[in-house]
Amino acid sequence: MTADTDTIARDAALEALDQVIDPVSGKGLSSAGLVQGLVVRGGRAGFMLEAPAGHAAAYAPVREAAEKALAALPGVEKAQVVLTAQSGGSAKARDIAQPPPRGGKLNADPQGQVGPQAAAERPANVKRVIAVASGKGGVGKSTVSVNLAVAFARMGLSVGLADADIFGPSAPKMLGISGQPQFENDKLQPFTAHGVKVMSIGFIAEDNSPMIFRGPRASGAVRQMTHGVNWASEAEPMDILVIDLPPGTGDIHLTVIQSVKLDGVVLVSTPQEVALIDARRAATMFHKTGTPILGLIENMSFFPDPTTGRPIPIFGSGGGKTEAARLGVPLLAEIPIDIALREGGDAGAPITAQGGGGAAAEAFRSAARKLAT
Ligand SMILES: Nc1ncnc2c1ncn2[C@@H]1O[C@H](COP(=O)(O)OP(=O)(O)O)[C@@H](O)[C@H]1O
Ligand SMILES: [Mg+2]
Repeated sequence: MTADTDTIARDAALEALDQVIDPVSGKGLSSAGLVQGLVVRGGRAGFMLEAPAGHAAAYAPVREAAEKALAALPGVEKAQVVLTAQSGGSAKARDIAQPPPRGGKLNADPQGQVGPQAAAERPANVKRVIAVASGKGGVGKSTVSVNLAVAFARMGLSVGLADADIFGPSAPKMLGISGQPQFENDKLQPFTAHGVKVMSIGFIAEDNSPMIFRGPRASGAVRQMTHGVNWASEAEPMDILVIDLPPGTGDIHLTVIQSVKLDGVVLVSTPQEVALIDARRAATMFHKTGTPILGLIENMSFFPDPTTGRPIPIFGSGGGKTEAARLGVPLLAEIPIDIALREGGDAGAPITAQGGGGAAAEAFRSAARKLAT
């Protein structure tokens, strides 16, 4: 599908959704600004419908009407509308996504304007929150997030995984989850896979497609992935929530830092110098915002020699170790290149989900043990 037909399909969807009336404002959904993160591609259409605080129940029929309107469009085989609710009381992400300018020098150093946030909280009844970050995409951040989460679960911990990577949500595929999240008591119900409670921004996106969220919308959606989910209750608290962040150092990261109390961040990098430089940049951002860096995981560290099993360092050797020492943080693991790791991710069966699994699985388990204590 070309960009043009995409645009036409989007416009048609917005027009159809404007025929569905928002019960609160009396306007069409599109005019009321309630159509967020609209995706129309490959026979699928979906968006996030954000109900005003306390009105979630009233919007259930609106969601149904919106899905019908999308499903009736030519070329749309599957329509998915995720109903979310604004959290009452606290400031909304969109209000705090941009730090206020100081001395008129907006964006000169946006990260420099953000200190540790007093307003940042953990989601209710969650004891620890760990974010997984990387400077570059494609270094294995999601692979690490998923396998750490599963390894934590196998240690007997109560674990959640929030997939907040708006550019490439991958938890649904890597954990073999599909479907539409349900909505209870104004919050999304997480899925459970391999002992991990999971919520992903990808549940409303086409597989592997970058999301269309931008700026404040993206920030709002990310906030929904953390605070808008029924992760835990007083009776069943959660030990660790793992957040798979987007790569890089953007507004989304600032939103997460400002709205979620992070107990620490795990940096993922490959041993290549370019990846390490980007990881350093990410480390600087977390450092400036007072987020502890728990350690570095070097991924795709080496290729095990097929006959001897001895490491063949194809991306260079020792880079992660040197970088961890530079940053003054532990090197938590060196994960080998392992075809089974990729295949497990593609099949929704993480290698840590069973016992065994070779050197890569053992490296994840060892990192999880270090992080859990
Ligand atoms: N150690 C590894 N060995 C083999 N394949 C890997 C390894 N780590 C990641 N991959 C594969 O590389 C690709 C990118 O990994 P992913 O975790 O999605 O990266 P990111 O989240 O940083 O974009 C995936 O196909 C994944 O299965
Ligand atoms: Mg990813």
